Amino acid sequence: MPVITCIDDLKRLHARRTPRMFYDYAESGSYTEQTFRENVTDFEKIRLRQKVAVDMSNRSIAGEMIGTPVTMPVALAPVGLTGMQSADGEIKAARAAEKFGVPFTLSTMSICSIEDVAAQTTAPFWFQLYVMRDEDFVDRVIDRARAAGCSALVLTLDLQILGQRHKDLKNGLSAPPKLTIPNILNMMTKPEWCLGMLGTRRRSFGNIVGHAKGVGDLSSLSSWTAEQFDPQLDWKKIARIRDRWGGKLILKGVLDVEDAQRAADFGADAIVVSNHGGRQLDGALSSIRMLPSIVRAVKGKTEIWLDSGIRSGQDVLKALALGADGTMIGRSYIYGLGAMGEAGVTTALEVIRKELDTTMALCGERDIRNLGPHNLLVPKDFEGDWA
Ligand code: GLV
Repeated sequence: MPVITCIDDLKRLHARRTPRMFYDYAESGSYTEQTFRENVTDFEKIRLRQKVAVDMSNRSIAGEMIGTPVTMPVALAPVGLTGMQSADGEIKAARAAEKFGVPFTLSTMSICSIEDVAAQTTAPFWFQLYVMRDEDFVDRVIDRARAAGCSALVLTLDLQILGQRHKDLKNGLSAPPKLTIPNILNMMTKPEWCLGMLGTRRRSFGNIVGHAKGVGDLSSLSSWTAEQFDPQLDWKKIARIRDRWGGKLILKGVLDVEDAQRAADFGADAIVVSNHGGRQLDGALSSIRMLPSIVRAVKGKTEIWLDSGIRSGQDVLKALALGADGTMIGRSYIYGLGAMGEAGVTTALEVIRKELDTTMALCGERDIRNLGPHNLLVPKDFEGDWA
């Protein structure tokens, strides 16, 4: 059993144990990957304020996200093709999240279906919706999520067309992978992954194959998005979806103050300040850089969560201290899943919990709810002076 001390250890194992095409899918940003990189490096610019000689006993990092008790305010973000990182990956991740006491979000573009995950877990999970042109499909998938007991709908707003990730094109990304000579040679070096995949029947987009009409190549994410995703998604359509769903609604992919105000006025239960992990609009600012202005605009009107760039418990702490009410992680748990399956997701969560708790203590805080800008040293030009 390898000694895992940080999320980067899991990332290295993920790269070794999972076929190249799927590791690359996770580890990509669009175009030049500037935003993908800056999501991480901007966290590094923020420093922590050390406090000593304060009682650090009886610490608590527990909280709530949209009224759901969480052992730490870190939810698992929706990630497409999770069941290709490890066989039945969505079920494994959902189980790890349930045991740990944090929410799991199932992507529309998952391999295991809503019904598969519901049958294999007991805690309600959240369902992430991509809005397709086919309104019938959208209505049916919302009804399926409700029937499966999903407790929130996470509506992603920043991927109606797919940002180009060069590696996916070069690798010929598909689910399942095409049996070309390079893919076969690569898969032969990943025997555990192959065994897992041979042992499951879940190898394509479980939520949509057999449910959506009119798609050319069923195995290709780029065909799905190009042929099916609705480029006309606007606030009117969002309202239609809210009314059809009727439950808690989280709007994900908000990176602009005006959009955040609109989402808060709309009545979203939470917004996720996110640039989709740098996978969509390359050249956008990092989520952590945009957070302070969004907090000034809508704090208290809706819950503000942040994703994109979180690779440690210290990053979680920085986001919360800057005013986020919660966070989501994507790659950090996917590395764990690709490295060691369900145990790897649990390890990723444990790593983050320990880093968060230790850092909070060394910052002189005992309760995560008391974190604030007073715990940070933020460069004066952090937000930037943009015209
Ligand atoms: C899908 O959500 C993706 O970013 O690939």
